[in-house]
Amino acid sequence: MAGTSRTLTLRFLAQPTDVNYGGKVHGGMVMKWIDQAGFAAAVGWSGKYCVTVAVGGIRFVAPVRISDLVTVVATLVRTGTSSMHFAVEVRARDPMGGESRLCTHCIIVFVALEGVEGKPVAVPPWTPTDDNDLRLAQYAEQVMTLSKGIEDIVEQVVPDAP
Ligand SMILES: CC(C)(COP(=O)(O)OP(=O)(O)OC[C@H]1O[C@@H](n2cnc3c(N)ncnc32)[C@H](O)[C@@H]1OP(=O)(O)O)[C@@H](O)C(=O)NCCC(=O)NCCS
Repeated sequence: MAGTSRTLTLRFLAQPTDVNYGGKVHGGMVMKWIDQAGFAAAVGWSGKYCVTVAVGGIRFVAPVRISDLVTVVATLVRTGTSSMHFAVEVRARDPMGGESRLCTHCIIVFVALEGVEGKPVAVPPWTPTDDNDLRLAQYAEQVMTLSKGIEDIVEQVVPDAP
């Protein structure tokens, strides 16, 4: 049911086909996982079709190794009118044991649409309840402000930019 599940987790093994030239998982694949987890969380929260509008604060902290057990957790940290902001963490560990390592984190923002080609539509609001929630919501807002600020700069050099 829309507006009920704030967190979504994907868990799978990093595959040999995900490899980069250095023998680890390539960054594009990690970004794909982040987008997939965010998408599933966004459509689940909104009950609508959603598109990615922005990714911010992305940091590749540590590599993911081929055959690692990967966990991608997307947590809703802020809602606007049509937008949902998710903090996403990608963690990995040897499936035979060992410590879980934080590999990548970011904020990814989705917009709910009224149909696949539709206009942005309102989503169920989410209200932060404790101090940690408030910190995460503020962090997402700061990332969005930075991202929109950069868009203003890009507009001056890329003629077709919104
Ligand atoms: C996402 C899209 C529908 C937004 O259309 P738009 O006309 O810009 O709509 P709006 O200006 O009303 O913005 C919609 C929301 O996006 C948010 N938004 C826009 N730019 C943003 C940014 N840089 N960071 C965070 N949120 C942003 C707005 O704040 C607004 O949120 P709100 O409704 O909660 O206030 C349109 O830009 C689009 O189709 N983009 C392509 C999406 C895509 O193809 N994604 C990749 C594949 S899924």
